[in-house]
Amino acid sequence: MANTHRHAYNIHDLRTLARRRLPRGVFDFIDRGTEDDVALANNLDSYRRIKLRPSQLVDVSKRDLRRAVFGNTQSMPLIIGPTGIADILWYQGELALAMAATRAGVPFTLSTSATTPIEAIFDATQGAMWIQTYLWEERRHSYAVIERARAVGVKTLMLTVDTAVMPNREFNARNGFVNPFRLTPRMTCDVLRHPGWLAGVMGRYLFDGGIPRYANYPQGMNARITGAPVRLANAASVTWADVDALRERWPHTLIVKGLMSAADAEAAERHGVDGIVLSNHGGRNLDSAMAPIDVLPEVRAALSKRVTLLVDSGIRRGSDVVKAIALGADAVMVGKAALYGLGAGGEAGVSRALEMLRDEMDRTLALVGRCSFNEVDATLIARPGL
Ligand SMILES: Cc1cc2nc3c(=O)[nH]c(=O)nc-3n(C[C@H](O)[C@H](O)[C@H](O)COP(=O)(O)O)c2cc1C
Repeated sequence: MANTHRHAYNIHDLRTLARRRLPRGVFDFIDRGTEDDVALANNLDSYRRIKLRPSQLVDVSKRDLRRAVFGNTQSMPLIIGPTGIADILWYQGELALAMAATRAGVPFTLSTSATTPIEAIFDATQGAMWIQTYLWEERRHSYAVIERARAVGVKTLMLTVDTAVMPNREFNARNGFVNPFRLTPRMTCDVLRHPGWLAGVMGRYLFDGGIPRYANYPQGMNARITGAPVRLANAASVTWADVDALRERWPHTLIVKGLMSAADAEAAERHGVDGIVLSNHGGRNLDSAMAPIDVLPEVRAALSKRVTLLVDSGIRRGSDVVKAIALGADAVMVGKAALYGLGAGGEAGVSRALEMLRDEMDRTLALVGRCSFNEVDATLIARPGL
């Protein structure tokens, strides 16, 4: 079972393998969007609608996928984005994501809701990690986490701002996948039908000292993920004043994730951030959200080159990455593509996902007559409607 990812040819195949291995509640938690999954589907459709205009008779025999992001050269323009409680997909899944990213030469972003300590991820990535945070109503809790990350040596902080309230993920409630987890009869049947996951993930945790806890929440809040309801760190009161406060506290790279308009991107630049992630949270929050790739050109036009522009939500193919760079992104982030790999085969599955995306980027570059991402720009994009 652990090697089935070898028979996967693309991210979609990894998704199919992950669906087989994981209990329904766990799979839906990573795979679905929110409400009617409209934003989720539109994220994918938006990439499909964009067509490329190749140049022929160009010598593309020497290709180079490397890209500098915030001054660091990566093997390709991709970052693994923050995804909470990935440890339920695979035993020590967050470490697996981090190690696969590091082996592939790209950064890994640790979520606030991680169950692996910042220090362990920092060691596993040899420092090539970013950290994501939300803000608790009492800001001092978040500042404590941020201070801990700074002391460890983390150099890139990402503030997620698109989750003012908990999204309406009805499927999670239906599956009994709620905070805290309750073992409903339906969930018990679901889990028993997946003995490999039960023994290989939950069994190992129980053997190892218990159900994972939020490892980086402030003292007194690091509850078990199955414990009492946790006060999640997404305050509805977050404003630009919070961005200013973080800017003052954080001397290194500061990114705001979850913007979706040129006006907000301009404001972010005025407030001194170093980078922006255009994101609709993979379609998991506002079901009527537009696709980030569709607002990318106007946001790029509104920003100076000082601000690094990242985009996520809907990347499933290397050609999607080429499209995002052509429309003005400096790099992309992936959430589900890496999680499908993790759910299918742990660290090897994540490595497989990254390798597939890399091969597809390389092949797409060759087929459109470009040798590197430096040669990728809007001339590659066909007029809408073609
Ligand atoms: C299971 C799961 C958990 C997530 N948890 C977080 C999180 O804790 N913080 C955050 O900023 N984004 C979170 N996200 C959103 C991702 O960082 C990213 O924006 C999104 O997955 C990108 O879309 P994609 O999945 O189509 O690549 C999560 C996404 C998934 C699928």
